[in-house]
Amino acid sequence: MATAYDIAMKHGDTEKDGGAPVVAVENLHKSFEGLKVLNGISLSVSRGETLAVLGRSGTGKSVLLRLIIGLEKPDSGSIRIHGRNIVGLALDRVGEIRKKMGFLFQHAALYDSLTVAENVAFPLEHHRRDISRSERGDRVKRLLAEVGMEGDFGKMPSDISGGMQKRVGLARALALEPEILLLDEPTAGLDPISSAEIDDLILKLQRERQMASIVVTHDLHSARIIANRLALLDQGNVVIEGAFEDLQQSDIVLVKEFLKLS
Ligand SMILES: Nc1ncnc2c1ncn2[C@@H]1O[C@H](COP(=O)(O)OP(=O)(O)OP(=O)(O)O)[C@@H](O)[C@H]1O
Ligand SMILES: [Mg+2]
Repeated sequence: MATAYDIAMKHGDTEKDGGAPVVAVENLHKSFEGLKVLNGISLSVSRGETLAVLGRSGTGKSVLLRLIIGLEKPDSGSIRIHGRNIVGLALDRVGEIRKKMGFLFQHAALYDSLTVAENVAFPLEHHRRDISRSERGDRVKRLLAEVGMEGDFGKMPSDISGGMQKRVGLARALALEPEILLLDEPTAGLDPISSAEIDDLILKLQRERQMASIVVTHDLHSARIIANRLALLDQGNVVIEGAFEDLQQSDIVLVKEFLKLS
């Protein structure tokens, strides 16, 4: 199956951009009340590329995404978005940069009291005051169609399945046309068929939008399908980073164990 990276290469996009990383984190450290969570993580992702971040529960995967989004600050290290270090930037500047990012939190986190359409409209209402109400409505419809949810715009989140909630979360993440897509466990808690559908959707979105994506997942099967590169975290470090074949050929005990148990 052609990966997003293959497609980017075919269209020459990666070459055009010189493969310059859109997101590059270097030597990130983060502790909470004496608990060391990230212990010098370095990772990067370029346009049209999907990096899967794998690892056991509690290894700091969600913390890593929250740092990149700028919701928390690292103790040390840098987070460069298009070359600019966001660590230490004033909050309003981080807010500006965050508009380039679409994110899906670990627990879909739709607003329970808003309809599907209102959830997707939310970022547009807050950050795109320049567009008219009818244009906003059209965009919401297009976004919901893109994730296969155009028939469900008036439903409440509690009335749709987990897989459908993830789709709506994805549509909301895409609302501001992000260059960077950050997904935290997009298939967790879903049955295998719904998971495969979400994987297909992520691949389709990558093909069409050529974002720089980081997907946190427990699911090695899913990572293999959607990502060009995989990074395995353990105890705050990157144990290995590479293509799936690199993980398969690794002699590192932890990598072998992870592959065996997944
Ligand atoms: N705001 C916080 N305050 C204190 N501890 C925190 C905070 N956020 C995360 N932690 C701790 O940091 C560690 C890593 O958490 P994180 O949520 O990143 O793990 P994870 O790899 O995403 O796990 P999972 O696969 O279960 O989602 C955990 O021990 C967690 O309790
Ligand atoms: Mg997590």
